[in-house]
Amino acid sequence: MMKNITIKPIVSIALLSLCVGSVFAREPFTAQELEAQNKARLKLVEQGYNEWHGSNPTMSANGLACGNCHPDAAASNPQTFPKWNSSMNKVVSWPTMSNWCITNVQAGKALNPDGDDMLALQAYAFQMHNGRPIQPGLATAQTKPIAVTYGKGFPSKPSGIGQDTK
Ligand code: HEC
Repeated sequence: MMKNITIKPIVSIALLSLCVGSVFAREPFTAQELEAQNKARLKLVEQGYNEWHGSNPTMSANGLACGNCHPDAAASNPQTFPKWNSSMNKVVSWPTMSNWCITNVQAGKALNPDGDDMLALQAYAFQMHNGRPIQPGLATAQTKPIAVTYGKGFPSKPSGIGQDTK
């Protein structure tokens, strides 16, 4: 008796959401839409590449850029975050860790973790780790070096600041 009372509304809610879902579900993206979306992302990857090599002066007060110590985004390991950081004594995100390098090793001003500059840094670092398995918590010493295949799949102009490995 109780079962009937509780199950019926659940079943009808499930059926209703199926119907509503099919009314509001849009068509899959077209090839042109996917191309436009990827183009927008690769533009951000390009911006991130430039920032990685010193294009944003607020990120460094000592002439160092990410590319000096992380050529081709090596050892930045976006696929291993969130993870424990001993100097901050807590689990941190990739943007927090990148801001740590900006403020400590580059003596620069931290980026807004939700802003376009940080988004671009992420777009570049993630692009360079494309295909890596997601392994949250893995320490840098446990990760495999990234293999870079040139033409990287995105347009880029070396900034001339920092160390370009191209
Ligand atoms: C002077 C050298 C230097 C510069 C410049 C530098 N880093 Fe780092 N970075 C390090 C060192 C050293 C570590 C610590 C590596 C470790 O703990 O194994 C590190 C760690 C990281 C990590 C964490 C990697 C992991 O797997 O834990 C990220 C993310 C990172 N850096 C991003 C950046 C970004 C983004 C920039 C530029 C804004 C930058 N770093 C600039 C030296 C540098």
